[in-house]
Amino acid sequence: MAVYIVGGKSRIGGSVRIHGAKNAALPILAAAVICGDCVIENCPDLTDVAVALDILQHLGCRVVREGGTVYTHRLEGGDHCIPDALMSAMRSSIVFLGGIIARHGKAEVTLPGGCELGKRPIDIHLAALRRMGVRIREKGSGTLVCSAPRGLQGTELALPFPSVGATENIIIAAVTARGTTRITGAAREPEIRDLIAFLNGCGAQITCGVDGTITIQGVEKLHGVTHRVIPDRIAAGTFLCAAAITGGSVEVQDVNPGHLLSTLAYLNNAGCSVTTRIDSVLLRGPERLNELGIVKTLPYPGFPTDMQAVLMAAAAGAKGTSVFVENIFDGRYRHVSELLKLGADIRVLDRVAVVTGVPELHGGQLRCTDLRGGAAVVLAALSAQGPSVIREIRHIDRGYEDFSGSLRALGADIRREEAEWNGNTDQSAASGDEKKL
Ligand code: EPZ
Repeated sequence: MAVYIVGGKSRIGGSVRIHGAKNAALPILAAAVICGDCVIENCPDLTDVAVALDILQHLGCRVVREGGTVYTHRLEGGDHCIPDALMSAMRSSIVFLGGIIARHGKAEVTLPGGCELGKRPIDIHLAALRRMGVRIREKGSGTLVCSAPRGLQGTELALPFPSVGATENIIIAAVTARGTTRITGAAREPEIRDLIAFLNGCGAQITCGVDGTITIQGVEKLHGVTHRVIPDRIAAGTFLCAAAITGGSVEVQDVNPGHLLSTLAYLNNAGCSVTTRIDSVLLRGPERLNELGIVKTLPYPGFPTDMQAVLMAAAAGAKGTSVFVENIFDGRYRHVSELLKLGADIRVLDRVAVVTGVPELHGGQLRCTDLRGGAAVVLAALSAQGPSVIREIRHIDRGYEDFSGSLRALGADIRREEAEWNGNTDQSAASGDEKKL
């Protein structure tokens, strides 16, 4: 199993181009099931995206990747089931459900089940599809059998929570449904706006009201489009936090600063100097961050839950005490146990984590508990005194293109070891000095 070897404290400096947004590319690929030939540019090369391409091929689309561009071509036929192996490879595969039903009038998928972040129910998805005329029953081993004998019917939907995935599933199901669908209480993430732009480019008729209401007028058929995926705001925020945590200076390029406002506000208040341009952000970190105050995760445009772990890594070595409140997921503090191994002072009670900054973290034997928790552990190790070994880095491969390579290019003392690991750091990542954990 691959590991990261971190030589110890590094000051991150330089510029990095940010890849396309994983959480925009995934619903766009799910929607490609019902579109004509598409050219999807700036499509990130991530393991989650690779799974989505496998699902797309299984569902009857020919898929070709050439560098950062993915070409899709819809074939006749195709399956209406997603095999369990593919469903379980990526929890967000559920976002394919609406498109499969729209294309085939039926679908069979296994329940995605929980993941490292908690239960991850899909009740909002299913309640909305039922209101659109889908019959859904559970068969035996957690398989959902869905059918829309009279096709999908537009309807009024009020979501009890602005679920990103449920909003995406409904939009994809509604674009070729009969009549009009109106979603109130929908999620407003930039990735949803990008899905809407992609679908409108394919001939859909989707509008967004100033109150966030999304209205979809069903159309007969969708054609193809050439679409460029928006930049990944979480990857951008992660690299900016790397500079903040190590007292370095990083410019993230090819980004939309407007998607980063809540993260930049916290980093600015913690003592970072932030300069934004039309498609880049330059951040200089102080010698030591101030406390972050109270950090509450909220639906967009609030502070994103996907940045919580990474910002907590920053709080771990900051002055004073920072308080985190995780309002989106019921189990998103698994990274805390790993940060404690580095000497962090963090106490968790339910959704609240109290972080008392320590002057210095130390290296250790660590593992990634999930995608964003893993990124947090890496950043904390880069600010720690002494070497670290970080395992389970397959989680990071799901959401960051060449994470260690990008950090090394920014001066980080980190390397990726693909071979089986015996646990000794016989040399630092960059200098080759003798170091033992
Ligand atoms: C998307 O997940 C993102 N994933 C997540 O990013 C992100 O953290 C999340 O939105 C919130 O912004 C993708 O876009 C692929 P939700 P999703 O439905 O759609 C509850 C990352 O690191 N809920 O908005 O699964 C749910 O349990 C990933 O890139 C229900 O109760 O998120 C959770 O507590 C992690 N019933 C909350 O809503 C439902 O039917 C938010 O879930 C659906 C959701």
